[in-house]
Amino acid sequence: MAKQLLLTGASGYIGGDVLVALGRLAAAGAVALTLFVRDADAVAARVRADLGLPAAVVPAGTPVDGIAVVAGTYEDRAVFGAAIRAADIVVHTGDAADSAAAAAVLAAELAGWPAGRDLLLIHTSGTAILVDPAENDRASSRVWDDVADIRAITAWPAGRPHGTIDQTILGIHRTAPGGVRTLVVAPPLVYGRGRGPGNQRSQQVPTLIGAVAALGRNAIVGSGRAIWGNVHVQDLSALYALLVRTYLEAPHRLAYNADGYYFASAGEHAWRSLTVALDAPLVRHGVVAADRTSADGTAVFSAADYRALLDRGTAVLPSFFVTNSRSRATRARALGWAPTRESLAATLDDEVRRFVGA
Ligand SMILES: NC(=O)c1ccc[n+]([C@@H]2O[C@H](COP(=O)([O-])OP(=O)(O)OC[C@H]3O[C@@H](n4cnc5c(N)ncnc54)[C@H](OP(=O)(O)O)[C@@H]3O)[C@@H](O)[C@H]2O)c1
Repeated sequence: MAKQLLLTGASGYIGGDVLVALGRLAAAGAVALTLFVRDADAVAARVRADLGLPAAVVPAGTPVDGIAVVAGTYEDRAVFGAAIRAADIVVHTGDAADSAAAAAVLAAELAGWPAGRDLLLIHTSGTAILVDPAENDRASSRVWDDVADIRAITAWPAGRPHGTIDQTILGIHRTAPGGVRTLVVAPPLVYGRGRGPGNQRSQQVPTLIGAVAALGRNAIVGSGRAIWGNVHVQDLSALYALLVRTYLEAPHRLAYNADGYYFASAGEHAWRSLTVALDAPLVRHGVVAADRTSADGTAVFSAADYRALLDRGTAVLPSFFVTNSRSRATRARALGWAPTRESLAATLDDEVRRFVGA
């Protein structure tokens, strides 16, 4: 029987695209996939209809051949635990960087893992962990490298975004038996059209477009000089598939546990360049008038505009778009990961078009 791979978040943006990438491994017989989702019937129907893959709903803990769907939430310890115990590989994408409940169940299950049985956990974090408020609103020259800086990266205090959950995951190997191995994938800003059966849109760029639309004008947040890494969702899911394939074929080539931290950055953008690149698509699709653009980055959101953003409940927005998060994916590239998809700027017309529903 093929190795049993449990995937969380298949109805989400990253997990849905990872499903497509792993679907090819499943079709080749390298793994059997179990999707752990909240609405199993809906996901199974969409996987069959949209992706053309034969997915049936099964109870948690059932070994599968091909693709199956299990209904559950992370908060339901019994069901999530049973699904984990049936797995040889767990790829955790759904709310992974944010759900302490999921991390706690994974840590508890793996602490009690049977000696002599192998398990790989691929956890999803995010490079928001690199954000240092002291560097806000200027271009940071600090680029974090997942080989050279591994000790600093894996020791962030819990107060950083995703820090508490990272520490739970990074601590698993200290209590679990030797057959359990963990690694963390930390994507920067993810962009582009997902191919999964559920959510196909990311978070940051659609949020920015939504705020600009609500305010009726495009403008720079702060100085716009701060810099983030980015990756196309399909390049990101290719990395997950590469990690799984390498684990199956040449497991010694991967870094695990205390060294198992993989940045997934392909490109970079300054927030200013993103705002300027949005001007033309925003006008083209009627989101802002031609005289309400960023005017090549000379228009800046005022204090009143900031308050309006905050009042819309997007409290994270103004602060997020002045942060830096620069990372170098040395481990992934050493494995042969080579992003090929279009740049962030090249996807903005499609993002705005999807925003207006065209
Ligand atoms: N998108 C990015 O740019 C980005 C960058 C770096 C890191 N990340 C991190 O990557 C993770 C996934 O992001 P995403 O953009 O793919 O998010 P998303 O589209 O919102 O997907 C979240 C997924 O998690 C599932 N989920 C949430 N709570 C659950 C629970 N209690 N039990 C079971 N399933 C649950 C959702 O299921 P339902 O469909 O049932 O709601 C959905 O499948 C997040 O932790 C995010 O912080 C994202």
